[in-house]
Amino acid sequence: MADKDSSSGSNSQNPDQDSSVNPLSNFQNTLENIVQKFQGSNLNNQQHKFWETQPVGQFKDVGNSSLPEGPIEPPIPLSEVKQEPYNLPSLYEWTVCDMDSDEVCNEVYVLLTNNYVEDDDNLFRFNYSKEFLRWGLSPPGYFRSWHIGVRVKASKKLVAFITGIPVKLRVRDEVVRMAEVNFLCVHKKLRSKRLAPVMIKEVTRRIHLENIWQAAYTAGVLLPTPITTCQYWHRTLHPKKLIDVGFSRLGERMTMSRAIKLYRLPSSTATVGLRKMELRDVPAVTRLLRNYLSRFVVAPVFDDDEVDHWLLPQEDVVDSYVVESPDTHEITDFFSFYTLPSSILNNPNYSILKAALYFLQCLHYDSTASADPGCSYYCKTNLMFLMHLISWKMSHF
Ligand SMILES: CC(C)(COP(=O)(O)OP(=O)(O)OC[C@H]1O[C@@H](n2cnc3c(N)ncnc32)[C@H](O)[C@@H]1OP(=O)(O)O)[C@@H](O)C(=O)NCCC(=O)NCCS
Repeated sequence: MADKDSSSGSNSQNPDQDSSVNPLSNFQNTLENIVQKFQGSNLNNQQHKFWETQPVGQFKDVGNSSLPEGPIEPPIPLSEVKQEPYNLPSLYEWTVCDMDSDEVCNEVYVLLTNNYVEDDDNLFRFNYSKEFLRWGLSPPGYFRSWHIGVRVKASKKLVAFITGIPVKLRVRDEVVRMAEVNFLCVHKKLRSKRLAPVMIKEVTRRIHLENIWQAAYTAGVLLPTPITTCQYWHRTLHPKKLIDVGFSRLGERMTMSRAIKLYRLPSSTATVGLRKMELRDVPAVTRLLRNYLSRFVVAPVFDDDEVDHWLLPQEDVVDSYVVESPDTHEITDFFSFYTLPSSILNNPNYSILKAALYFLQCLHYDSTASADPGCSYYCKTNLMFLMHLISWKMSHF
């Protein structure tokens, strides 16, 4: 689910590739097109036995402008929220995953490393590091009870996982306290047994117990009903390896040595005043970020503590850079990326593909027309993820 949820991207570097692999890739990248094509396609007959019962925008209502925007279900008194967990099949039990425990964190890591998101060709599987999982699951004000696992009663083996973290999301002019649901994973041997709906209901119940009534999640699959989409673009850094492992391929008139030359990076940055972000930059970065995010219809709202958590550099987790004016020492820009390795499956020579994913930013120059020679080498891929809101109706924008 979150940002964070599309697969790695085999065969995705060439814009002229066969896009039939991923059903979403048949759609243009705007939500309007996705919904229109959906309405005209046989996917329309697909039933969503679970999601049709949930307080989410339904496909049949797309385009119906008479429905009001806002909460789909009103909050209820906390005393009326179901107090006991949902029933699991009798062989399984709920567990709270304490990510501060090395042992539990390792169990979660192993479950995700072996069972989390893969690309369509099963060449790569996300391999979030333990440090990343700890960082991603413990922002200010997080609830340990929202880090939910399922164990086999007899062996205590961890076989499923789902999480939420608290976020403040501005939707148009309203700031709504929400949960961001992520890392939904069911062990491969337990798939298609309707465990996911029970887990989604259980995390929802625990979110309600904290008096929070809305949630956001992203998915690489089309579910009722996304509010927006995000397209993946890739910038090749190590062409030989990416081609060797099947992530990219050489274009028709391209040779390996030309590709290596094409993607070579300059030895130093062209941006004067660029440096790693430090603790003292937090207030300036928060200001820049809030200002930048104000242009979006839906955006998270960050305070200093959250900027500190999400952006201060942590090795192999998150990297952030600021631009400090040499004259005024004012922080004028920043950008960040997080590190998300993937396991390379069944390759005799390589086991890990390390990727940097663009994260939060505020750049004053127009990045599409930037002086950075790297920009022209970004390739649009056939991967996208879709963002969904729970219990919040939004007309498309
Ligand atoms: C996603 C995953 C947990 C679903 O489990 P499953 O065993 O395939 O599916 P289940 O039989 O338990 O449940 C099916 C229901 O879950 C829904 N579902 C499947 N993937 C979902 C997702 N990513 N987010 C929300 N709901 C999802 C299905 O649409 C279906 O509901 P519907 O009948 O209303 O359409 C499992 O496939 C998995 O672990 N995949 C690898 C990791 C992954 O892709 N995680 C999600 C990242 S977005």
